[in-house]
Amino acid sequence: MNRISDKIEIRQETADDFPEVFTINRSAFGQDNEAKLVEALRNNPKVFVPELSLVAAVRNKIVGHILFSRIQIIDSMGSIHESLGLAPMAVTPEYQKKGIGGKLVRKGLERARGLGFNAVIVLGHEHYYPRFGFKPAAKWNIKAPFDVPSNVFMAIELVKGGLKNISGTVRYPNEFETV
Ligand SMILES: CC(C)(COP(=O)(O)OP(=O)(O)OC[C@H]1O[C@@H](n2cnc3c(N)ncnc32)[C@H](O)[C@@H]1OP(=O)(O)O)[C@@H](O)C(=O)NCCC(=O)NCCS
Repeated sequence: MNRISDKIEIRQETADDFPEVFTINRSAFGQDNEAKLVEALRNNPKVFVPELSLVAAVRNKIVGHILFSRIQIIDSMGSIHESLGLAPMAVTPEYQKKGIGGKLVRKGLERARGLGFNAVIVLGHEHYYPRFGFKPAAKWNIKAPFDVPSNVFMAIELVKGGLKNISGTVRYPNEFETV
């Protein structure tokens, strides 16, 4: 019971956390782009879901952040299916590989399910996200809007059949173009 991940609290971020969230993203990614992406998404009420911007806190220090925002899947008929994208997520380098990222993902998926979302799409490490149940999005004929190896573009159904009859190309909010 003395693992650091046992002392971690996952909670919704508040405005007081914004500077620390910026710093965590900058230090984890080694650049400002993702930190600025989080700020831009927060300022777009059409895609930002406050309940799905979560921080990991150990005592009062924020050491991780995860964001899920609204995205769309456009099918071959041009129909729009609303969905959710996981991006970005970051854990302060000194706190990585201690299970904090995993806690953020699991709590985020649970909350997203509770909010009624059916699925989550992620572009990420092929060996990391499958442990949470993500599978290549190609399984549902869901494609990225850019060229990526198919095993890094993944999806998870939050409810049984959450992606049934949903296929097409993901459309990310314009804010992602700056990353
Ligand atoms: C990805 C990240 C959020 C994971 O957070 P974390 O708290 O270290 O995650 P956990 O402790 O739950 O899991 C660690 C596992 O992730 C794996 N992992 C981390 N980065 C990885 C990478 N670039 N490629 C493959 N696996 C990776 C570790 O190898 C480890 O695997 P193990 O459990 O088999 O040892 C963190 O490493 C990070 O901030 N990375 C930099 C930013 C980033 O790449 N974000 C994700 C893309 S949006």
